[in-house]
Amino acid sequence: MAKKNTVAVYPGSFDPPTLGHLNLVTRAAEIFNEVVVAVAESTSKRYVFSTEERVELWRKILPKGMKNVKIDTFSGLLVDYVASKNAGILLRGLRNGIDFEYEISMAQTNRSMNPDVETLFIMTEGHLAHLSSSLIKEIVYLGGSVKGMVPPLIERELKKRIGPGSQSEVIKD
Ligand code: PNS
Repeated sequence: MAKKNTVAVYPGSFDPPTLGHLNLVTRAAEIFNEVVVAVAESTSKRYVFSTEERVELWRKILPKGMKNVKIDTFSGLLVDYVASKNAGILLRGLRNGIDFEYEISMAQTNRSMNPDVETLFIMTEGHLAHLSSSLIKEIVYLGGSVKGMVPPLIERELKKRIGPGSQSEVIKD
């Protein structure tokens, strides 16, 4: 596919990144010149993994040859971050209608703050559309397997952090 000279920012909590997130980044890297995965630093949410850990997880799961994907962190308003990267495109995945309801108000709010930032959506592949970081954490917390939902490295890290015996209470986004 012919690429325009575009930088797209793909923001999220990524606590942790799932195979759905990885699939989206892989497809986006084919469309845009550069994709910046922007890990949210601090919101009102409690994260299982620190910002640095979530960045590190992304670095470890990205295929080595994927040179046009960068991992970064952001705090504050997302549109300001996107503008600071001279990106212009804000990328989000859409799994279902519930995502759509949430995403449309976020996209419209962001657009009202900065019309130069265009939100684009990529549909999640059907076989990955049921995945969510929150449910994955709950499964691991309750001792279940998340094989096929996250890369093996992430399943191992989740088990260490919140699996049975870890005494963690933080399992939800
Ligand atoms: O993976 P998530 O949790 O759905 O990501 C949500 C995120 C981090 C992209 C969103 O909460 C966000 O943009 N936060 C930054 C603060 C901001 O700009 N808020 C106004 C959004 S309309």
